[in-house]
Amino acid sequence: MRDISLHVLDLVQNSLAAEATDIQITLDEDLEQNLLCLTIRDNGRGMSAEQCQAALDPFYTTRTPRNVGLGLSLLQAATERAGGQLQLYSQLGKGTTVVASFVYDNVDRPPIGDMSLTLTSIIALNEQCQFTYQHRRGERGFTLSSQELRQELAGIPLDHPQVAAWLRDYVREQEKTLEV
Ligand SMILES: Nc1ncnc2c1ncn2[C@@H]1O[C@H](COP(=O)(O)OP(=O)(O)OP(=O)(O)O)[C@@H](O)[C@H]1O
Ligand SMILES: [Mg+2]
Repeated sequence: MRDISLHVLDLVQNSLAAEATDIQITLDEDLEQNLLCLTIRDNGRGMSAEQCQAALDPFYTTRTPRNVGLGLSLLQAATERAGGQLQLYSQLGKGTTVVASFVYDNVDRPPIGDMSLTLTSIIALNEQCQFTYQHRRGERGFTLSSQELRQELAGIPLDHPQVAAWLRDYVREQEKTLEV
């Protein structure tokens, strides 16, 4: 079973392939409604209604040279196994939003996984793109913005090993505060 942080890597890859420069990731652990909801919103090239429908077909891809595209269909299957669903909203030239929901306490709901590692890698490897991550759990939550981070770092590159290590620890600390 792939954990959610790996699906996030996949979805961010899609957004980057669509030339997004702004990617917003939200992970919402809604304990009251027993739902876990992952949302990824980008400002990439978007898709037409037909492309949107086709995108969930494992045999549809605009990637070359492969002729299968599995990212979205695997995620859709994972949501449905756990009593949830995948929704795609897109507008050509504007961007795309993917919403994946899971029944929180379903035995087949994938674990969140190591979001600190996912975030650290995507932020370090894609300086040209702005990332915002928001993780909510019940009443608690925290936000991470690569743009704010860049401002604080005043010229130190985001892929500097010490920055990456600090960022990973920072996200882990923040996630711990959501647990209590
Ligand atoms: N955020 C997005 N913006 C624009 N188009 C998208 C986006 N996400 C997916 N697509 C389109 O949907 C297709 C299918 O996406 P999917 O992730 O399922 O497969 P893939 O990215 O082509 O291949 P894989 O994920 O297996 O590497 C993509 O090839 C692309 O054309
Ligand atoms: Mg993909």
